[in-house]
Amino acid sequence: MSLLEVSGLSVHAGARALVRDVSFTLAPGERLGVIGESGSGKSVTSLAALGLLPDALSASGSIRLDGHEIVGRPDAALRPLRGPVAQIVFQEPLTALDPLMRVGRQIAEPLTRHRGLRGSALRAGVAAALADVALPDERIARAFPYELSGGQRQRVAIAIALAARPRLLIADEPTTALDVTVQDGVLSLLERLVAERDMGLLFISHDLAVVARMVERIIVMQDGVVVEEGPVMQIVREPRHPYTRTLVDSARALDAALDADPRAGGTR
Ligand SMILES: Nc1ncnc2c1ncn2[C@@H]1O[C@H](COP(=O)(O)OP(=O)(O)O)[C@@H](O)[C@H]1O
Ligand SMILES: [Mg+2]
Repeated sequence: MSLLEVSGLSVHAGARALVRDVSFTLAPGERLGVIGESGSGKSVTSLAALGLLPDALSASGSIRLDGHEIVGRPDAALRPLRGPVAQIVFQEPLTALDPLMRVGRQIAEPLTRHRGLRGSALRAGVAAALADVALPDERIARAFPYELSGGQRQRVAIAIALAARPRLLIADEPTTALDVTVQDGVLSLLERLVAERDMGLLFISHDLAVVARMVERIIVMQDGVVVEEGPVMQIVREPRHPYTRTLVDSARALDAALDADPRAGGTR
């Protein structure tokens, strides 16, 4: 059975269609990328998958998450799925963090709620969750979000998202807001955790090079529709849709420019 099965998904804001007739599936443990320019409907699609669309937007079609229908279900019915089944990491880590609560308590909360950890087991769980995202420093647990760097905050958001041991992680441009020098570390971390835990990954980005590194298969979105789908290698080597060709050509041009620029040498 698919972990995530989206069929004929459309999302409207009033009469305006933001996403039209989108279909794809993601098997357990599979890594699927969604690529497309800003405004192409990537975030709307990923929010719909967890039933997190704002009230102004309405979805039709079907989204089955681990066999459970999401479209049209009340929030109360979906909440138990968020955590053990699927979790999302956003572009801006602050959206996931409570500014007034120490980081350790924010990680402890889902460990207690979903895994029943308390007392010394809970303290060990928080330490292990921070170590998993390469933040082993005791001080991080006592810090408030504003005391951390952007990269550290995103690592904490990942630790919170993974606390309930979800089988699917949705990562919506998880490194886009980060300084380029810390992007690579966060991507490596996600790669390692997804592999270690055999999680499914829906990885969303506007950057083909980043997506190609993280996933096995890609869907390409433009103006709210899926225009192409296939294995990463096939998309990169023989893009069929004109828009995909533009994406591949501009990624190649950037690569060539970096190769030609001696200042960029050695950083890649
Ligand atoms: N809450 C909303 N109300 C109205 N339109 C929205 C809302 N959220 C997103 N949109 C529109 O939906 C389209 C797709 O947005 P989005 O999924 O965020 O794009 P992407 O993530 O690919 O950059 C855009 O035209 C955006 O302006
Ligand atoms: Mg987006």
